[in-house]
Amino acid sequence: MNVLILGSGGREHTLSWMIARSKKVNKVFIAPGNAGTAIEGQNVNLDINNFESVAEFALANDIAMVVVGPEAPLVAGIHDFFLGNEKYRQIPVVGPVKEGAMLEGSKDFAKEFMDKYGIPTAAYRSFNRDTYDSACEFLRGMKRPYVLKADGLAAGKGVLILDDYDEAVQELDKMLSGKFGDAGKIVVIEEFLKGIELSVFILTDGNNYKLFPEAKDYKKVGEKDTGLNTGGMGAVSPVPFADKKFLKRVEDRIIKPTVTGLKNEGIEYKGFLYFGLMKVDDDPFVVEYNVRMGDPEAEVVIPRIKSDLMDLLIGVAGGNLDEKKLEITNDTVTTVMLVSGGYPGDYEKGKEIFNIEDASGSIIFQAGTRNVGDRIVTSGGRVLAISSYGHDMNEALKKSYANAEIIEFEGKYFRRDIGFDL
Ligand code: AMP
Ligand code: GLY
Repeated sequence: MNVLILGSGGREHTLSWMIARSKKVNKVFIAPGNAGTAIEGQNVNLDINNFESVAEFALANDIAMVVVGPEAPLVAGIHDFFLGNEKYRQIPVVGPVKEGAMLEGSKDFAKEFMDKYGIPTAAYRSFNRDTYDSACEFLRGMKRPYVLKADGLAAGKGVLILDDYDEAVQELDKMLSGKFGDAGKIVVIEEFLKGIELSVFILTDGNNYKLFPEAKDYKKVGEKDTGLNTGGMGAVSPVPFADKKFLKRVEDRIIKPTVTGLKNEGIEYKGFLYFGLMKVDDDPFVVEYNVRMGDPEAEVVIPRIKSDLMDLLIGVAGGNLDEKKLEITNDTVTTVMLVSGGYPGDYEKGKEIFNIEDASGSIIFQAGTRNVGDRIVTSGGRVLAISSYGHDMNEALKKSYANAEIIEFEGKYFRRDIGFDL
């Protein structure tokens, strides 16, 4: 069968790497892809937010499944678009319908959903311009620091954590006045959770689910978790502090009620679901849902899957995921992200990347890269994810770091302390 993967980052290179290795797969197309996905299959120059052009391509190229990498097309309803048209309906889409994607697309929706189904999360209230005065009053009654979240998608920038009441009130005003556009028309104010973060993932067909390995991602650009937030500077899986007992709590208190809740709401959720968690003492709380795999978490989670991922995805489409097998390696996988100097602020693109072919013992997943003739050049902030297996974290990190030194491009930067706190 032919598969079309939508997206262009390290996550999509990882998905295409794994899917292209399936015996069930004839050809993989990636839209728009990057220089790494071009090794696994054929890149297609499509605007993935133009659903008609995606669907027409799928029809013309005998695509048997569309796998959606990023959240934007899901929140905008790509799956509903396929279902709503006789011509495209028979092509299964992995990724939730619009209503399911609201778990990521609207923080207010996600919080209300969690409240309704008794899923542990920070206490909260939502406000808009009309309720600004009660929002200030609510903030005054809260302990510091104050957590303000724009309701909608804000490219990972919509969460503010502030120590000062006056600053929090000012920022709230700015958010409600359009600092994040329409995404901030509603603001969720919630209790600050003190603990350690990790992510857990499932793949679900709407009824059954498979628990994927957990991962920890390093969001801050600077060592010791300092500086600005990024998309992620590295990741490890498994996470040593997520022991069996803790993961059972995650499953019982969070995953099962979420899958049941979606079903109760009549939302047919088919795809990946990402639980961003805070471990507070020994108890898990949901910080956020994402309706896709994480990036760079995908670059450590997917390589740990020993089973045929394509077969699992076929189970998602067919509603018989319970009949499929998911085997996970006990090995650790780590990834270290090489980024463009200046990221997540301004940075230059178009820098030639050298020595990828000299990197051995790691899998080099490409993110912000593109081919120019026979050269590979940088085309984004996050450039390459260097993923490595090891019997333990140190062995894996050693390989990732050795290759992080070997690969070169002007302005290369990476954190040297991935896994430092574990
Ligand atoms: P979100 O986009 O909701 O994941 O928030 C971005 C980041 O802000 C999270 O990864 C956490 O590090 C932090 N964060 C969000 N909500 C809270 C909270 N209630 N308590 C503590 N930290 C939070
Ligand atoms: N690495 C965080 C995310 O994918 O949202």
